[in-house]
Amino acid sequence: MIELADISKSYRTGSVSVEAIKHIHLTIAKGEIFGIIGHSGAGKSTLLRTVNLLERPTTGTVKVGGVELTKLSSSQLQKERRRIGMIFQHFNLLAMATVRDNIAFPLRLAKLSKAAIRARVDELLQLVGLEQHADKYPAQLSGGQKQRVGIARALASNPDVLLCDEATSALDPQTTNAILALLLDINKKLGITILLITHEMHVIRSICDRVAVIDSGDVVEMGDVVDVFLKPQHPTTKEFVSQMADSFDPRELIAASKGRLVKINYVGDITYEPLLFNAVKATSVQFTILQGTVSRMKNTPYGQLVIEFIGDGQEVVQVIGALRDKGLEVGELA
Ligand SMILES: Nc1ncnc2c1ncn2[C@@H]1O[C@H](COP(=O)(O)OP(=O)(O)OP(=O)(O)O)[C@@H](O)[C@H]1O
Ligand SMILES: [Mg+2]
Repeated sequence: MIELADISKSYRTGSVSVEAIKHIHLTIAKGEIFGIIGHSGAGKSTLLRTVNLLERPTTGTVKVGGVELTKLSSSQLQKERRRIGMIFQHFNLLAMATVRDNIAFPLRLAKLSKAAIRARVDELLQLVGLEQHADKYPAQLSGGQKQRVGIARALASNPDVLLCDEATSALDPQTTNAILALLLDINKKLGITILLITHEMHVIRSICDRVAVIDSGDVVEMGDVVDVFLKPQHPTTKEFVSQMADSFDPRELIAASKGRLVKINYVGDITYEPLLFNAVKATSVQFTILQGTVSRMKNTPYGQLVIEFIGDGQEVVQVIGALRDKGLEVGELA
C-alpha cells in the first residue's frame, strides 16, 4: 500500500545541510499497522511527512496504492492526498469551529452537498464516540476528545491510509490506551492501513504488526513487533525495549543467587500452559521467579521470566532441556 524507495531528505539552513533521513526503503502492506520508533530528532516526522509529500524528499520515490506520488502534478497530488488521512500530536483543530464543522472541513473542500456532509459527519461522530459533543468547540474538549475529532476529520474522505504523527504523545496513559484501541478498531472495521510514529515502545507493542527503529535518519532495525521486541539487536532498539522491562538489571540478581539463573522467553499459546510445573514435577528441583513479565503484544501473548533453579546439577540440566523441548528459549545468566 505504501512503498518508499531510497527516500532521503536534506534540510539546508544557511550554509549547513542536515540529512534528516538517509536512503530509506520501506514497504507497508494493505491493512497493516506499521510503527516507526525513534528518539527526538531521529527523522520520524520528516519520514512520515514524505508519505503524503508534505515534505518532498531530496531523493527517492513514494508510491501509495500503486500511484507514484513523486511524479504527479500538484492538482493530481491534491486529489491523491484525499486517500491519505493524517492526525497530529497537537490535534491541529480549528479553534473557532465546532466539532461538527471541524469534521466537515475536508468534505466542504471536496464540495459535497449539505445533506451528504451532515450524514457523513453523523456517521463519523458515532465511529469515534463523540455524538454528544457535536456542537462544542475544541476548547471545551479533553485531549482525548480532541484527538477523536482529529481522527474523524482524517477519516472523512474515506482514506486508504492514516498517518499518525505522535498521536498519543500529548495524552495521559489511560487516554492513550483509549485512542490506541480506537485506532485498532478503525483498522479492523475499515481495513485502513496505519503508519504511526512514536517514541514510546508501549504504543508499538499495543497495536502495531511491524516496526522500524530509526536512528539519526537510518532504519537500524525492522521486523515483526514480536521478533523485534523479544530479540532486539541494535542498541537503540534495546534501549526502547528496556522502557517496557522492569527497572532493575537481572545481572544484579546473580550476586545474590544460590542456584542456577536462567532467562526464559516464550511466545504464543504456550503462555497458558503450566510449563514450569511440568518440567520440575518429576525431579526434586525447586524454582523461584525473580523477575517477570507476562503480557501481550497486540494479540500475541508472551512471557519473559528470570528464574532461579535450585537442586541437583544434573536434574537442573534435565529441567532446562525439558523446557527447551517445549519450544521455550532458555538463556543462562549464571
Ligand atoms: N524544516 C526544517 N528545517 C531544518 N531542519 C529540520 C527541519 N525539520 C526537521 N529538521 C531537522 O531534521 C532532523 C529530523 O527532524 P524530525 O522532526 O523529523 O525528527 P523527529 O524524529 O520527528 O523528532 P521529534 O520526536 O522531536 O518530533 C532534526 O535534526 C531536525 O532538526
Ligand atoms: Mg516529530
